[in-house]
Amino acid sequence: MNHIGAIAFDLYGTLFDVHSVIDQCEQRYPARGREISTIWRQKQLEYTWLRSLMNRYVTFEQATEDALRYTARHLKLDLDDETKAVLCDAYLKLRPFPEVPETLSRLRERGLGLAILSNGSPHSIGSVVGHAGLRDRFDHLLSVDPVRIYKPHDRAYELPESAFGLSRASILFVSSNAWDGTVRLLETGGRMKR
Ligand code: 2OP
Repeated sequence: MNHIGAIAFDLYGTLFDVHSVIDQCEQRYPARGREISTIWRQKQLEYTWLRSLMNRYVTFEQATEDALRYTARHLKLDLDDETKAVLCDAYLKLRPFPEVPETLSRLRERGLGLAILSNGSPHSIGSVVGHAGLRDRFDHLLSVDPVRIYKPHDRAYELPESAFGLSRASILFVSSNAWDGTVRLLETGGRMKR
C-alpha cells in the first residue's frame, strides 16, 4: 500500500454544505428554499461539465450565477439584481459540516499535508474557507482556475501533485461527489473504482 502524505478535499458538498444557502433562499422565496437550492446546485454542475466539454471556461462564480438565473426562470420566480447578488454572496459564506473543523485539526496533528482542490475560483475558495475561520488548516487552496477546465478533467487532479510535490498515489483525494476524482464510474456500472 502506498504511503499517504497528503489529503486533497473537494470543497462544495464535501467540507461545506451547499444547501446552507437554503436560509437565504427561504427569506427571499418562502417555502421554496430546498427546491431552489437543489435545482441551482444541479444546474451549476451541469454548466461546468458542459463548459469543459465545449472548452468555454468561465469562473465558478459565473457558472453559479448562470445556474441561479436558470433556476429562477425554471421555477417562474422573479430574480432582481439585489436578490441575485444576495444569493450568490451566500455561496461565498457556506457553512462547513459540523465535524469538519475538528477533523481537519486532527489530520494536521498527524502531520498530513492538507489541501482543497475545487472547481471554485481562488476568490470563492478563499472566501468560503476564510469566512469559516479554517484557512490555517490548509497548506494549499487549489482552484482549477489556472488550468481553466473543471473537475473531473484529469488536468485538474494534477494540481495537488504539483503543489505537494507528491505522486498521485501518495495523495488521498476525498469527495462526496460520485463524479469527482479519477473514478472509472462509467466502466464499472456505477461502482467506484480507481
Ligand atoms: C468542487 O468543490 C464543485 O464540489 C465541487 O469542486
